[in-house]
Amino acid sequence: MFRGPLEMSMLKRARAKKAVNIRIFDIRYFTKGKHRLADDYSYGGGSGMIMKPEPIFEAVKAASGESYSKLQKKNRRFPWIILLSPQGVQFTQKKAKVFAGKKHLIFICGRYKGIDERVRRYLINEEISIGDYVLSGGEAAAWVITEAVTRLIPGVVGDKESVETDSFYRENIFDWPHYTRPFKYRGWPVPKILISGNHKKIQVWRRKKALEKTFSRRPDLLLKEKNYE
Ligand code: ADE
Repeated sequence: MFRGPLEMSMLKRARAKKAVNIRIFDIRYFTKGKHRLADDYSYGGGSGMIMKPEPIFEAVKAASGESYSKLQKKNRRFPWIILLSPQGVQFTQKKAKVFAGKKHLIFICGRYKGIDERVRRYLINEEISIGDYVLSGGEAAAWVITEAVTRLIPGVVGDKESVETDSFYRENIFDWPHYTRPFKYRGWPVPKILISGNHKKIQVWRRKKALEKTFSRRPDLLLKEKNYE
């Protein structure tokens, strides 16, 4: 599930430059017994299998390397351990910035239907959701978050400017509309102001369009900005 997304485009380049080190751990590898079971029946009955705690704890321990045991002695949890689930706190650009500032993140991709509650209570630092919808497992969510976080690491996106003008980078405001050549496509021209050469006016136009778009689609975002109360 990860090979494609992690081995292309921005993530591929970031890994090649060693700006980020991404490793995949298969929880099943940490199972024991003849059948290598990663899940089992639910105590109390009911349908649906529940992911066992031991392989998850073991996988996280392996992923943590030395730092886990060292820092656990000091009773500080490190690296930052994130469980992906639709019951978590909603992932946002603000969260992406916080995660980008951390040295080591571990994402636990559980099957949505069930994970032993002790993982939640005793292993993780935080439970994160990428939106109010249900995926079968956390893998796609881990990829989404990895992509959003990696591009914030300095040096990953070549043109620093393009990260900084992204919607949401500084404020919760969408990007302005962009155009490229041809000037006229199927009779639809590019707004004249963009070829006026008047940079001040272009700046004002872009700001206005960005605010209009945000206001019409997501007024809630503008209300979060203290400058626009
Ligand atoms: N696993 C299943 N659904 C999810 C969601 N919406 N976000 C994160 N992890 C999930």
